[in-house]
Amino acid sequence: MDLLEPFSSRVDLREGLVGTVAHRLSRRLSDLRGLFLDEQARAEMVALGDPLVYEVFVAPAPESEGHLCHGVTVLHPGRVGDEYFMTKGHYHQKSGTAEVYYGLAGTGLMILQTRWGVWRTVDIAPGTVVYVPPHWGHRSINTGEVPLVLLYAFPGDAGHDYGTIESTGFARLVVADNGHPSVVENPRYAVEIPP
Ligand code: F6R
Ligand code: ZN
Repeated sequence: MDLLEPFSSRVDLREGLVGTVAHRLSRRLSDLRGLFLDEQARAEMVALGDPLVYEVFVAPAPESEGHLCHGVTVLHPGRVGDEYFMTKGHYHQKSGTAEVYYGLAGTGLMILQTRWGVWRTVDIAPGTVVYVPPHWGHRSINTGEVPLVLLYAFPGDAGHDYGTIESTGFARLVVADNGHPSVVENPRYAVEIPP
């Protein structure tokens, strides 16, 4: 039996996760080609300084069965055209695995979607716990003016499928309408065909 030493990390609302952190993953706008509807606006923003959109601070829990991968996502405020900054979004590779998110700072939405086009949005703010049940793809969206900071935990053997969302998108976009978040149809959404 492999006996892992207990460990702890600390959440810092500016710095993300500090202390025992395995790695830090940064996504700039240049890493998010094709994610936003207004590709021209995205390319212009990349040329003008390529802002940091989000960072994921990962605690060193093994990515294997029995463990709980966890960490903190810091999603910065901003927009590409009318569309708020957001994460890429994914399904878990092992589809029957869930996830829990906990809002620490900022305000936003999570959009969740099944492979056959059922979608839901859930508001997230400090103190909100979001349960992402098995089989739901998920993406976080910052609709506020300050970083949206989220703690997450999911089964170590879940894995990530980014390709499906890259090809289908989510059924809805979250855009600013007179300064307020509005959930609108995604004209590029392509529903998957059930097997
Ligand atoms: C892990 C998970 C989060 C996200 C993070 C960044 O299963 O859902 O840790 O990985 O919020 O989003 P993505 O991975 O979609 O770029
Ligand atoms: Zn996930």
